[in-house]
Amino acid sequence: MDSNKRPDDMVRITTKEAAEAFIDEQVKAVREQVGDKKVLLALSGGVDSSVVAALLIKAIGKQLVCVHVNHGLLRKGEPEQVVEVFRNQMDANLVYVDAVDRFLDKLAGVDDPETKRKIIGAEFIRVFEEEARKLDGVEFLAQGTIYPDILESDGVKAHHNVGGLPEDLQFELVEPVKLLYKDEVRVVGEALGLPDSMVYRQPFPGPGLGVRCTGAITRDRLEAVREADAIVREEIGKLEKTPWQYFVAIPDLKSTGIKDGKRYMGWAAIIRAINTVDAVTAQSVEIPFDMLCRMRDRIIAEVPGVNRVLWDISDKPVSTIEWE
Ligand code: XMP
Repeated sequence: MDSNKRPDDMVRITTKEAAEAFIDEQVKAVREQVGDKKVLLALSGGVDSSVVAALLIKAIGKQLVCVHVNHGLLRKGEPEQVVEVFRNQMDANLVYVDAVDRFLDKLAGVDDPETKRKIIGAEFIRVFEEEARKLDGVEFLAQGTIYPDILESDGVKAHHNVGGLPEDLQFELVEPVKLLYKDEVRVVGEALGLPDSMVYRQPFPGPGLGVRCTGAITRDRLEAVREADAIVREEIGKLEKTPWQYFVAIPDLKSTGIKDGKRYMGWAAIIRAINTVDAVTAQSVEIPFDMLCRMRDRIIAEVPGVNRVLWDISDKPVSTIEWE
């Protein structure tokens, strides 16, 4: 049987009971697969890797070594949440790597979007490789591959894979959720006790805020993107039905402002909120004007450097969801 093919009779996991049955089954399977050996996992804090981490912690406890690389391009509060949930609450074996300066130094002055993505991807693998080399006795690599990854690619996860590891660090894979669809992964995550803010969070690109701080990333503009994004997520998150994805981009573009009668240069923060089914096409979502005004007021008051707030009403096509 092809282990990468979801059996036709596999029932969709929609309930807590079904999730618990799946968890029990996988806990057994993982224990059988890895025995008393160590398993390594790159834990981004995204839904898939978090669910795999929680599942493996349940199955093998401290035999799992989670490596969280903070590359400086994560959303506000994310690295802290990974530490809080996995180290403090779940007592996981978590290696937290503060690689912020490393990434931002490498990215300094680089304005080509594809080059930025490549630098982020390559540096991520390098940091992960260094951490893997410090550990003894690792024989397995866990990955948050899910079924759409298998259907869409050849089973290799496009963004948070560590597929670029050198020959001598090729481990046997542990992929407990590889036959699940995203909605099932979320139900399993809930049953494992992960917080809603982790299980139901919106999609976030692998290169993170790097694609929303267009052009050459500077620390001050990156910080502005992070702060403005937190405000927009908080405000739009209050809608009864939240859009599929909503965020802020701050392009490398100067905007004139006026303060105390004097003109000065600042940035324009762009609010984007879209609905989509598969991210191939997307529709801009209508945001109530009073909410837009509240976000404008908060961003201007709370985010240094921003003197203009815009709302991106473009659909995909022709505009992509991200700005870069
Ligand atoms: P675009 O901008 O192409 O985005 O319309 C479609 C969806 O993919 C996400 N996205 C990325 N995800 N690495 C990722 O893992 C990337 O480089 C990347 N670029 C875009 C984007 O957030 C949207 O959900």
